[in-house]
Amino acid sequence: MNFQEQLKADKDLVEEALKNAFRGRTPHADIYDAMNYSLLAGGKRVRPILTLETCRLCGGDPIQALPFACAAEMIHTYSLIHDDLPCMDDDELRRGRPTNHMVYGEATAVLAGDGLLTAAFELALEGSRDLDPKWALAALDCLAHASGAAGMVGGQALDMAGEGHALTLPDVEELQRLKTGALIAAAAEMGCIVAGGGEEQRQAVRLYAEKLGLAFQIRDDVLDVTGDSAELGKPTGSDAKGEKTTFVTLKGLEECARLVEKLTAEAAEALSGFDQADFLIQLAYQLVGRTS
Ligand code: IPE
Ligand code: IPE
Ligand code: MG
Ligand code: MG
Ligand code: MG
Repeated sequence: MNFQEQLKADKDLVEEALKNAFRGRTPHADIYDAMNYSLLAGGKRVRPILTLETCRLCGGDPIQALPFACAAEMIHTYSLIHDDLPCMDDDELRRGRPTNHMVYGEATAVLAGDGLLTAAFELALEGSRDLDPKWALAALDCLAHASGAAGMVGGQALDMAGEGHALTLPDVEELQRLKTGALIAAAAEMGCIVAGGGEEQRQAVRLYAEKLGLAFQIRDDVLDVTGDSAELGKPTGSDAKGEKTTFVTLKGLEECARLVEKLTAEAAEALSGFDQADFLIQLAYQLVGRTS
């Protein structure tokens, strides 16, 4: 399989699993509708693809990593639902659709996010049954740590606290590392853990994902300025509206493009010890010039 075929195969696997995640859950069907509305609205599925492919990289069966992959995507989707709320970025378009709160109202949107967060851990626990408990606990620990106040939630808190303030480059780096990098790194590391990867492999995968995660968020900040809303499926100009300090406001567009290139090369370099890292290296390079 070439890169594009593998990407499609991974994406299809994730889509199918997500589609079935809440199938047959009829009590309180409305909340599941709101959860599925955002979860099944497309999205690049970068995080779950990372989980599947780092599992393969470390010699594991990606199918065993699928519940953890989907768990990362559920947490990511919940973070987007909450990120779009009027009390946060106050945006009206996501994944090409009106945002969750525009359709279901704020209370249901908050609960849909809560529901996805909790469902992510249910799913990861379910996927843990077939694993060595040592690896299952390590993967769950990794996901929990990256999602909470020491990770994504903490980064979102810094992001909100920074609105209207001039932040320094180290401030923005820390904020991005937490709000976006932490979950991307955890998604990648979980695949490695499920495969029973050793400490050295885990560290290499983590470094790859941290570099990729920072490049990913810098590109996101660039697209907020230069992107096309229809193609992105979300509004542009959201950061300026929120008076956020970003890599773009601090460094300018050209320097950001250079930084994304540099970080991507460093991500690729982090995997130099693996024989079969082509897919993950190509994935990182494909994200450099992404337009959505
Ligand atoms: C958007 O994430 C928010 C960030 C953390 C940059 P993605 O660009 O992965 O969004 P989807 O999942 O493809 O919609
Ligand atoms: C949000 O960053 C990252 C999350 C943890 C959701 P942004 O606010 O820049 O994400 P977008 O641009 O709305 O997707
Ligand atoms: Mg935000
Ligand atoms: Mg936002
Ligand atoms: Mg953004």
